[in-house]
This record gives sequence, C-alpha cells and structure tokens, in this order.
Amino acid sequence: MITNFSDEMDFENRLVTPEYSESDDSSLEVSLRPRTLNDYIGQEKVKENLKIYMDAAKGRGEAMDHVLLYGPPGLGKTTLAGIIAAEMGVDIRVTSGPAIEKQGDLAALLTNLNDGDVLFIDEIHRLSRQVEEILYPAMEDHAIDIIIGKGPSARSIRLDLPRFTLVGATTRAGQLTAPLRDRFGVILRLELYTPDELADIVKRSATVLGTSIEDDGALEIASRSRGTPRIANRLLKRARDFAEVMGNGIITKESAGLALSRMEIDPLGLDNIDRLLLSAMIKNYNGGPVGLETIAAAIGEEAITIEDVYEPYLMQIGFLSRTPRGRVVTPAGYRHLGIEMPGENSNSTQMKIDI
Ligand code: ADE
Repeated sequence: MITNFSDEMDFENRLVTPEYSESDDSSLEVSLRPRTLNDYIGQEKVKENLKIYMDAAKGRGEAMDHVLLYGPPGLGKTTLAGIIAAEMGVDIRVTSGPAIEKQGDLAALLTNLNDGDVLFIDEIHRLSRQVEEILYPAMEDHAIDIIIGKGPSARSIRLDLPRFTLVGATTRAGQLTAPLRDRFGVILRLELYTPDELADIVKRSATVLGTSIEDDGALEIASRSRGTPRIANRLLKRARDFAEVMGNGIITKESAGLALSRMEIDPLGLDNIDRLLLSAMIKNYNGGPVGLETIAAAIGEEAITIEDVYEPYLMQIGFLSRTPRGRVVTPAGYRHLGIEMPGENSNSTQMKIDI
C-alpha cells in the first residue's frame, strides 16, 4: 500500500525551500540583497571573472556581453543581475521565461530598453520556441524582425534595438537549446555556499536588519541552510523572532538552535519534507531503486521540484544517490533517520543496484 503523505505536509510554507515566497519580495528582503560586487559574499571565481568583463566593457564604452547564470535556486542569480546593472550604471528590467507568453511581449520589452540596459530573464529555459526565435537576432544583431500582415502579403520589417545585455538565469543549463546557449558570451555556474560564507552573509544581513547576532549563532543558522543564502536569510528572520519573543533579542547559538528545532529543521538542515521523502522511499520501496515520478506521486510533490530543490542537497550530503534504475537511499540516509538498513553490513545498497 502506497501512502500519500501530501495531505499532511505544508509545502507552500516550507521554510527551507529555496524558491521565492511573497515575504522574500518584501522591501525588507530586497534590502538584504547586496548591490555591489564588493558587498557580495562568496562565488569568488564568478566575481573575479565578472569584474574583469565589466571593467573591460566599461573601458571600451560598450554594453556588457550577454551573461548566462546557472545553478540551483536561491544562490543569488537575480542579485548578481542587479549588481551587473548597478556596476555598469544602467537600468535593469526583470522578467521570467514563463511570463513571456507571446513574441509581442518580448518585442515590447526589448524596444523599451535604453542603451546598455540589462534585461534579466529568470527561468530562461522555460521560454517558448517562438519567443526564443525573437531573441536570436536581438542578442546577435541588436534587431528584431517583425512580421506585418498574414499570408502572401505578409512583410517582415527589421527594427533596430539599443545595445543591451541579456542576463539569463536557469537551474537547468542542460535544457537550454544549443542556439540560445551559444549566444551567451559569458556563462557562469554558481555553486552552493560553504557554511563560513553563509555565516558571513547571515552576519551582514543581521546588520542590515539591525539585529544582534553572535558568531556561533550565525554559524548555527549557516550550517543548517543547505548552502543557500535565500534559506539562510529566511531562517535568520525566524531566529530573530524567537530571540525577540523568547530571549533578549540577541541571536546566540542556543537561541538559533532552539528556533531551528522548533521549525523542525535538523542539524543538517533537513526539514520534515526531506525526511518524508527519504522515509517514503524506505517504507514503500525498501530504500530504492525507485523512479523519480513514483517518489513524486508518493509524497505529492512535482518531480521537477524534487529534482531541482530537494535532491541536490540530499545528494551533496550523501543521503541519496542516482542510479540508472532509480533513486536509492544510502546507508548514511538510513542512519540519519535512525532506521536500520536491511543487511547494512552486507552492503545491500550495492546488491539492490546490481540485481
Ligand atoms: N544576501 C544574499 N546573498 C548574498 C551574498 N552572496 N552576499 C551577501 N549578501 C547576500
């Protein structure tokens, strides 16, 4: 009997989801975003290279080349796009792949840009093919071809565009078509942050919020934030609530630990949905191998969300592995949940894969 756990779970309010929620978009959250490269913590290689490309473009008096940022959600792709615009001294227009439904929507955005402006398209892998076709000449020749009329009398008119910089962001670079990917002059991959980098981000954010935090309080939040600043900043705000209501307002290791355990986020940053995913695999499918779609149905979550949001971290900490026959919970995953792995001493994960 397969259990559907989804009714019990509150996916919308998951505290460790790296996706945006409305509260993240409040003016407060926006102010947590660094505006200059100097204030941006971590992603050192990306920053070093970006700085060179921006300085060079500024030196030549040109717009920055088109930039593709890719990596798991919540690592600062939107923030970096804002920084590129600010450092280049230009405006930024923000949109997303699914929001651009028709060719005309993109044409309207492009023709309203000023010279040098940044157009940021989040989730760029979700652009439709027709819309994407408009982007090719826009990126390459700074022009778009508009068809006027229908049938045999249809004519194509070429409209010149200002020199602009397209910054595209995606969690799935592999889903971009080759013609689109090839038109980006700069392709940068963002990595999960280290706990030390995240602790620095938490301390900076606490300063912006006017909250006192001790170093080990920041590290406590950082080490449970799945390598993701967006999660760290969200947990910081909740830790601040607990410290203000239940303590003296200062976030210490103890008060942060209390807040995190009250939010059911465990010492490794797993929340009840991560644990549900692992335990559903163990209880219903003997720990795997089990297909992604099957896991998705069992816990009532979309397969793509499991792949983009939950799996990267579970794989990074070695609790889940991907095999050609499906996903498998590792011995470390069993141990973390306190569930005995059948025949652990006889290396049963390997046996399951090989059968
Ligand atoms: N807030 C979110 N991401 C950040 C980063 N990389 N550096 C500083 N503050 C941040």
